[in-house]
Order: sequence, then C-alpha cells, then structure tokens
Amino acid sequence: MTFKSLFRKKSANVILKQGGDGEHIILNKVLNVRDLTFFGIAAIIGGGTFSAIGNACFSGGPAVVFLYIICGIACGFTALCYAEFASQVPVSGSAYTYAYVSFGELFAWIIGWALLMEYSIGNIYIAFSWSGYFTNLLDGFGLHLPEWLTINYKAAHQAFLDNKAGEGLLAWANAPQIGGLHIIFDLPAVMINAFITWLVYRGTKESRNISNIMVMIKLVVIVLVIIVGCTYINLDNWTPFMPNGFGGVMSGVSAVFFAYIGFDAVSTLAEESKNPQRDLPRGMIYSLVICTVVYIILALVLTGMASYKLLGVSDPLAEIFKIKGIKWMIFIVSIAAVVAMTSVLLVFQMGQPRIWMSMSRDGLLPKRFAKIHPKYKTPGFATIITGLVVGIPLFFTDENFVLDFTSIGTLFAFVLVCAGVLTLPSQQGNNKASQIKGKFRLPYINSKYVMPLITITIFSLIIYFIPEFITSKFIITCDKAANNIPMLVFFVLLIVMAVLSFVKNLSLIPVLGLMSCCYLLTGMAASNWLWFSMWLGIGLIVYFLYSRKHSKLNAKE
Ligand code: ALA
Repeated sequence: MTFKSLFRKKSANVILKQGGDGEHIILNKVLNVRDLTFFGIAAIIGGGTFSAIGNACFSGGPAVVFLYIICGIACGFTALCYAEFASQVPVSGSAYTYAYVSFGELFAWIIGWALLMEYSIGNIYIAFSWSGYFTNLLDGFGLHLPEWLTINYKAAHQAFLDNKAGEGLLAWANAPQIGGLHIIFDLPAVMINAFITWLVYRGTKESRNISNIMVMIKLVVIVLVIIVGCTYINLDNWTPFMPNGFGGVMSGVSAVFFAYIGFDAVSTLAEESKNPQRDLPRGMIYSLVICTVVYIILALVLTGMASYKLLGVSDPLAEIFKIKGIKWMIFIVSIAAVVAMTSVLLVFQMGQPRIWMSMSRDGLLPKRFAKIHPKYKTPGFATIITGLVVGIPLFFTDENFVLDFTSIGTLFAFVLVCAGVLTLPSQQGNNKASQIKGKFRLPYINSKYVMPLITITIFSLIIYFIPEFITSKFIITCDKAANNIPMLVFFVLLIVMAVLSFVKNLSLIPVLGLMSCCYLLTGMAASNWLWFSMWLGIGLIVYFLYSRKHSKLNAKE
C-alpha cells in the first residue's frame, strides 16, 4: 500500500457511467424541481425549528437571530458548492461521491462515515422530539401513555441520579423490572422509526406524495405562528438584545445549525430526478432561501412575544402560546410539529440508504447495500439497516448528545465539500469552460485581494474591540483554554487561506463556504471534538480492514 494510493480518485465521467445514466439506471426518475424544493424544506424544517430553537433563544436572547444569519450564510455558500458538484456528478452519493472525485478514496470514505451522523444520528434526535410533541397531543385527547414508555432510559436514569422531579423520575419509579433492569424506552420514537422505514422501503413515489402534503402543512402553520405571533410582539422583550454576550449566542450553534441541515439531502435524490443537472441546484438553493427567511422572522417573533428566559423548553412554539393563553394555537402547533418532524425523518431515512448504495457500488461496503428491490425499486437492504441504525440507539442514548454529534459531523462534511470544489477544473481562474445551457455553474470570482482584505479587517476589528486577544496572557491563562483551541486553529487557518488565495487565485465562494463552516465548528465544545475523533478513528479502522481491500479501484492498479 503506497501513500499515494490512499488518495486514488474516480473520474466524474466514470462515476456518471456507473451510477447515473449507465448500467445502474434502475431507480424511478420521477422528481422535478418543485418536488426537490419541497424535499429540501421537508428535510430542513423539523426538530431544529420546533424544538432546538428554544434553548438557542434561551442562551443567546433575541440576538440569536445573528446566529441564524451566520448559519444561513455558511449554508448558502455550502449549498452553492453542493450545487456545483451535483450538476457535475448527478448520482446518489452526495458529498461522498463528490469527495471521491476531488480528494480521493480515503476522504470519500471519511465523508461517507461523517454523513452517517447527519442522516442517521440526526434522525435519533428528531424521533425523540417527535415523540415529545406526539405524547402531548395524545394527552390533549385524554390518552396518557405511562412515563416509562415515553422517555429514553438514559434520561430517566439521569433524573433518578439527580433526584429531579418530573417525567424521568416517574418513569424510573413506575417502570416494570426484569432481573433488576428497569424497562424504560421511548415507544412512540421507536414506532415512528419503524413506520418511516416501512414507507421508504415501499418506494419513492409514495414517499414523495406524503412528503409534499406534509411540507404544505408545516409551512402554512409556521406562517400562521408568525402572523398570530406578530400581533403579540412587545418591543421591550428585545431589550437586552444580547443578554449573555456573543458567547451566549454561539453556545446555540449546534441547535441553530441543526435547523439548517437538510438542504444537502436533496443531492441524494439525483438518480430519481428527471433533470438532475438543472433541478438539483435549484431545489437546494430555493429551499435554503425560503427556510432562512422563515427562521430569521420566527426567531424575532418568538423573542418578541415573551422574554427569552421563558423559551428554554423542548416545545417552545407550543410554550409561547401557552404563555399567551391561546389554546387553539397550541393544538395546531403540536400537530404541525408532528407532521414537520415526520417529513424530516422521511427525507433522511431516504438519503442514508442512497449514500450506502453508492459506497457499495464502489466496493467500499458489501454488495447487498446496493441491491435494489425488484418490485419497489428502492435499496431495500440498506433501508432496513438504516432503520436499525436509528432504531437501536433509541434505547440507550439521549437527545442532547445526538444533537451535538450530528452538527459536528455535518459541518465537517460541509468543510470537505467546499474544499473539494476548490480543486475542480471549473473553479480554476484560467479555466475557460463555457456555460452549458440548463446546467448550473458556480461563478468563479478571484479571491486574490478579497480574502486578505477580509482577514485584515477581522484582525483589525478584534484588536480594536478585544485588545487583550493579542497578548499571550489570553491564550495561556484563559480559564477555558481547551475551548479556545478551536478558535486559535480557526485564526491560523484564516491566515493560511488568505495567503493561499493571494498566491493561487482561489475561487471566492468555496473559500468563504469553507471558512464560514470552520467558524461554526469553533462553537463546538471540546468534548464533542473528542467523541467525533473517536468516531472517525473507528471509521478508519473499518476502511483499512474492509473497504480498502474490496474497493473497485483495486482492479485498476
Ligand atoms: N433541519 C432538520 C431539523 O431541524 C434536521 O429537524
């Protein structure tokens, strides 16, 4: 094994021939640009909007809106990079396939491994949040499930250890026991995962029809929340605007970024699109723009309706109407939350098997992952395994852990996608590739002077506003030194990218995508980095023990 062979690449033409329009053309091509935009929204507006936004508002105050803008910008640049890739390599593997073209096999594997967190681990969070709103609804109808069937084991055990009154402690006290083991699990979360897995197994067309209806419902209800909420805004609630400083705003980064995850899932539907090269980029960008506008308005409305201090709950959109005593809105919001989260589950549960299918076609996973069901024309085996990957951890993990884990893994994948676009011939300054009609092209803008200018401006502002930053005292004796390391790494990277941009005339949009995603990564706690590194380590072991040996590229060497 040579070092160079770790970075062996597939050419875009070969990938297209194998996966897109050649020997494997067996998935149903039924999706148009409207379907893809709806799919994007279906994936984006879910647990982040109905659940995680509460804690983000609580820690950041009304200024959390800045974080929504920053995340929107970072995702916007990244979506453009995805779009460039998706129009060149319109097959199902998403960022995994793009990395195979630009960075080579090892990075492709790492991205495929990281995407598992976005698609499967993220669905664990959503299934838990779904269950929360669903059991509230059932309670509203007078149907009460016992607590030991509506909470995860870990949360109940923690409540017992902390002796914290509430659902967890009740569950622990009342749960049946087998050999001393408390039987506690989140039944609605398990059931919704089983239902979604079945739906996806049955086929794309059925899933699409249901998904479009769900998207309409959630958009209508969110607009209703905004309209009704606007009439209750009290401007006093926006003062103080940033109660916990910018640190407080940034501590909501996992939650806010999570709300944006999903636009990239559109790219996994390449092989089911009628005209992927034209429609995938449009679907991604349209859905992202719509959701960014909705989030900014929603965050302002929520923090304007009541003090941010009251929003740190898991169902903030229902809570805000409880505070205002508008009962009919609580009911409508709860139904919409259940619907919204169902559609998110659906999209991600469809995306994961399609990534595995691509990896399997390349030999990096066993052949069964690429097997298409003869009747339903879906990757049946991979779909069932996805259901298990989401379903089994539901029994022994909790929502906070999976939220952070999902956000860090997804940001990592986004960074690699932006970096990958920089290496494409279309993004080299001297490339004179003409625009192909109907095909998306990321415009090349030279970053030669812009990046150094941005970097100098950032450092000047920091030195002006936080003069202690440049003293070694800040770096060495800061009480949370470990948490400053990602920030210091970011500044070093900023300088490196400014120099590279100047010397190599890099393309501006991918550079800005790369740097904005890296910036968001600085908001992740040190413990998240540790878990994430361990996860990557396991991935590398699997790669060297199995995938590398079975890669189809071996035959070419
Ligand atoms: N953006 C998706 C959600 O908020 C993952 O549920």
